[in-house]
Amino acid sequence: MRSMVERSSKMKICYISLFPEVIEAYNNVGMMRKAQEIDAVEFIYLNLREFGLGPRRQVDDTPYGGGDGMVLKPEPISGAILKAKDLVGEDALVILPTPRGKLFTQDDSKRFAKINKNLIIFCPRYEGYDERIVKLVDEQICIGSYVLTGGEIPAMVISDSIVRLRPDVLGGAQSVDKESFQNNLTFVEHAQYTRPEIFEGSSVPEVLKNGNHKEIEKWREENSLT
Ligand code: ADE
Repeated sequence: MRSMVERSSKMKICYISLFPEVIEAYNNVGMMRKAQEIDAVEFIYLNLREFGLGPRRQVDDTPYGGGDGMVLKPEPISGAILKAKDLVGEDALVILPTPRGKLFTQDDSKRFAKINKNLIIFCPRYEGYDERIVKLVDEQICIGSYVLTGGEIPAMVISDSIVRLRPDVLGGAQSVDKESFQNNLTFVEHAQYTRPEIFEGSSVPEVLKNGNHKEIEKWREENSLT
């Protein structure tokens, strides 16, 4: 069966984070685990702390101009990005999850899945990062109109949605092409049912049980457009 992305090669994704174990735990189950097992992807984790300055491995400092919270210093970030490029290649794309970025959509996932470049995702924490690191970044990405406490969840959202589009990660091209948002932004996949036939008084739609594939297809099409 043809795959969504034609050329099959292992994509490397390197995360830079103060809490890489959070991302690693997520990536080691389910579909992300399978993607690693079939060599569709390799995940690499760098702990920003290891690039911290001085004996205490300092990664943050107070903001110029005053204000609450701490700001991530530029040197550890730039050191970590350099190391990441050593590991996954100079031409890897550097992604910065930030509420200041461009809204991430399925079109972006497809673009990254097809581009055949490795990725480096830097996950900010604290009140933010020194703005001068932005020149080391290729894309600033926002995953939605809300503010999270760090870049780890956005990094997982971004990489999950890309990796599942890589060749052989999902069962077949079909499941990718038919699902929500794949064809346009308003398409939402039809509802699904499984056993039991009646759950708390609510039955599975008759049409799905009668074995008439034409009718089932029609129902699914209509149900998709809701
Ligand atoms: N960091 C904090 N909130 C975020 C968001 N909504 N998108 C991307 N990065 C973020």
